[in-house]
Amino acid sequence: QARLVESSKRLAAFQAVKDYLRPEYTRIGIGSGSTVVYVVEAIAALGPEITSRMCFYPTGSQSEELIEAAGLNLQYISKLPSGQQLDVAFDGADEVDDDLNLIKGGGGCLWQEKIVATSAKQFVCVADFRKLSPRLGTNWKKGIPIEVLPMAAPRVLDELVRMGSINPRIRSGLPGKAGALVTDNGLWIIDAPFAPLLHARDQPSRSGEPGVWTVEELADRLIKIPGVAEIGLFYGKNGLEVTSGAQKPVAAYF
Ligand code: A5P
Repeated sequence: QARLVESSKRLAAFQAVKDYLRPEYTRIGIGSGSTVVYVVEAIAALGPEITSRMCFYPTGSQSEELIEAAGLNLQYISKLPSGQQLDVAFDGADEVDDDLNLIKGGGGCLWQEKIVATSAKQFVCVADFRKLSPRLGTNWKKGIPIEVLPMAAPRVLDELVRMGSINPRIRSGLPGKAGALVTDNGLWIIDAPFAPLLHARDQPSRSGEPGVWTVEELADRLIKIPGVAEIGLFYGKNGLEVTSGAQKPVAAYF
């Protein structure tokens, strides 16, 4: 299975770059995670005659290193002038539902990912076959990653329990070591499991059941909890045009 997953990620990445990276593009967002490694490999394989005209915008320290190691031009989203956009951003996901809503942040990056994704005209999600599911929270059982101010973590946990999250936890850092994982932004991550999330069109069938949320309702509530910096739910309201293989049964995307 492990080899199948890796070759699926790689095929998906090469196909996504082939389909969505046009030679005339100059500003490209590069997300985080193990799938994006193959995206960068696919981009570098285009050769300097194409890539030297492009600048690549990372979503954190991991993708910054990837870009530099591949010899691509590194640029920062903080330098993107107001009123301008990236041409396209590529990123992975932990889970993708039927409507192309995403759970992200399994690797600890999500805030910068959302900033880069929402700065791009097109957001391309590259996902292997394990990631697609009808409802967010079906396959990815670890919970929705939520980036929080450390001092607020106990209060945020209390509120998550009140909202029906099942055993939300602060993500710990190194295996076997005490202490929380610290993000690129100096914050902590809480993983909050919820019952599989409904689509807005499912209402009112199960609406009102305790702990049962649509993607939009939950996202709206989570982001308003004091101390929450950003949440790992990416959905239409963020203005994302999600063009992942999950939308079309193109084998290469899985
Ligand atoms: C990083 O925190 C995430 O948002 C990743 O994009 C996501 O976890 C997917 O990672 P993999 O490509 O490693 O599965």
